[in-house]
Amino acid sequence: MAEQHSSKSIMWVTIIIAIVLIAIIYPLTNKSFSSAANAGGGDDAAEVRIQPVAGFALAKADAGAATGAPKDGPTVYNTVCGACHNTGAAGAPKLDDKGAWAPRVGTGKEALYKSALGGKGAMPAKGGSSLSDDEIKGAVDYILSKVK
Ligand code: HEC
Repeated sequence: MAEQHSSKSIMWVTIIIAIVLIAIIYPLTNKSFSSAANAGGGDDAAEVRIQPVAGFALAKADAGAATGAPKDGPTVYNTVCGACHNTGAAGAPKLDDKGAWAPRVGTGKEALYKSALGGKGAMPAKGGSSLSDDEIKGAVDYILSKVK
């Protein structure tokens, strides 16, 4: 009888220790999961931050395309390009940063048209809009008039 009693208490002690260990370890693993997610999320966080701006620009550009009226350079710049080129989002050269534009201007207007129309680095083709080639070129001309 005594023997059976002690093996029963060993069982309970084992169960209690297991529960205590789980209670201690579980929050620790949870914590390391969430901090690992934060550490690895740097790029995602940047993407999430620029998303509202980029999304806004796309919505406006498409709305403009639907009306059919061609837009002039400043209008295209302000509705599409400014989302990145006013703020420097996605590493875009800012409109007021002549130093950042100087080497690009040096590559010539045609090269800049090509980059704006076909995309370059983090910049999508036509700045992500569905505007015409001429409208995009007009926006490049507008940029050049500001940065020269
Ligand atoms: C999503 C953000 C974004 C939008 C919107 C955007 N750009 Fe850019 N743009 C960039 C980035 C980033 C660069 C730098 C690319 C690189 O050099 O890798 C760039 C570079 C450029 C360059 C220089 C290209 C070169 O060859 O050095 C021109 C010109 C330009 N953009 C024009 C425009 C015009 C015009 C629009 C609007 C129709 C526009 N961009 C919209 C992000 C953007």
